[in-house]
Amino acid sequence: MTPTTQKALLVVSKGANFVLATRPVPKPGPRQVLIKVESVALNPLDWAVTTRGLLMKSFPSVGGSDGAGTIEGLGEGATGVQKGDRVLFQCLDYTSDRGAFQQYAIADAHRISKIPSNLSFDEAATVPLGLATAAVGLYAPKAPMGGAALTPPWVEGGKDKYKDQPALVTGGSSSVGQFGEVTCSLMSHKAPTHIQSLNSPAIQLLKLSGFNPIISTSSARNFDYVRVAGATHVIDYHTTPYASLRAAVEKITSAPIPVIYDAISSEDSQRACWDILAPNGAIVVTTGMRQPVVGKPGEDAEDGKHLARVYGSVDIVKDVEFGNQLHASLTGLLESGALKPNKVEILSNGLAGVLDGVARFGRGEVSGVKLVAHVDATP
Ligand SMILES: NC(=O)c1ccc[n+]([C@@H]2O[C@H](COP(=O)([O-])OP(=O)(O)OC[C@H]3O[C@@H](n4cnc5c(N)ncnc54)[C@H](OP(=O)(O)O)[C@@H]3O)[C@@H](O)[C@H]2O)c1
Repeated sequence: MTPTTQKALLVVSKGANFVLATRPVPKPGPRQVLIKVESVALNPLDWAVTTRGLLMKSFPSVGGSDGAGTIEGLGEGATGVQKGDRVLFQCLDYTSDRGAFQQYAIADAHRISKIPSNLSFDEAATVPLGLATAAVGLYAPKAPMGGAALTPPWVEGGKDKYKDQPALVTGGSSSVGQFGEVTCSLMSHKAPTHIQSLNSPAIQLLKLSGFNPIISTSSARNFDYVRVAGATHVIDYHTTPYASLRAAVEKITSAPIPVIYDAISSEDSQRACWDILAPNGAIVVTTGMRQPVVGKPGEDAEDGKHLARVYGSVDIVKDVEFGNQLHASLTGLLESGALKPNKVEILSNGLAGVLDGVARFGRGEVSGVKLVAHVDATP
């Protein structure tokens, strides 16, 4: 029997920290589902929401973008899923009923994905925001807040369409970068087989699209992790600062670089990547609401370089159709291992532990891992 009230992490005013509170369990509307949330994943955005007051417009509001759980109830006209299905979902429109950081959340039936049996709830929860940010940035239509309009690998003719074209991904060990691929100090290494899960959706997607070589940046300790995602070369950004990245890339390939995913999007990485990008190429930046320091979002420069500024949600109206298609393909991509989830670190105390986890983003203490909380462990 579904309870009528539940525990949830609320933001009660702009920029306030999360508080654990009790609120009603929502009812699914037309074409919606109610999900009993098992695992939730944290993102740097949660830190920005609770310290800088980004995105949330009404209060109190439930936080959290990424979750995985079991379908508890179906709204009228919800098709393609049934009660008891294990699903992953993204709730990034900051309306309380859809926030991930609660025991029961609402999502649209067409933008959730069944979790294949080879993935745990924890692993599945790591996928939504990182993957959406990588996929929208690379494949969604061009727009002021949009993508680079490449052909996605999940549509006919998309797999390997960009075979043997080089690509660059900054931040290969980040949750966004990893859905892509990278290079290591000019040496190509075979990926170790003991690492089963990985980060960097941008790298993974670029690999599916056929890009090669895929050059990336990370700390040296994460080189193996980045290579497992699909990078062919990884450069240590501590010993090769972004001002020197162009020279390092040119030692790996003399071919022009038509696609760059700047998952880090610091000022120095943006300037370096814009300089490296080939004429008529496309760069994706993850600055979100911040203005990029190069190019004009959604426009081509005089030399044809296109700047895509991504918003990593498939819940906003213009990307809903793109999100439906992505989620329709996602179960198969995860089941076959074509896409792999992030490495997971479990926080203690369920939703209560999210507060400490979020603070770690502010201190720069999250590296090559996704922080995950078990909702049932909430005191
Ligand atoms: N626009 C959007 O909608 C959107 C959506 C999601 C994320 N973002 C933004 O994208 C960025 C990445 O998010 P995330 O969730 O992927 O973060 P994350 O996984 O928490 O990022 C941590 C990683 O960043 C890497 N890193 C830090 N500085 C770096 C640098 N200068 N060069 C290369 N790697 C560096 C670290 O690598 P090492 O440990 O190997 O040093 C670490 O693994 C954040 O700024 C986030 O706010 C934007």
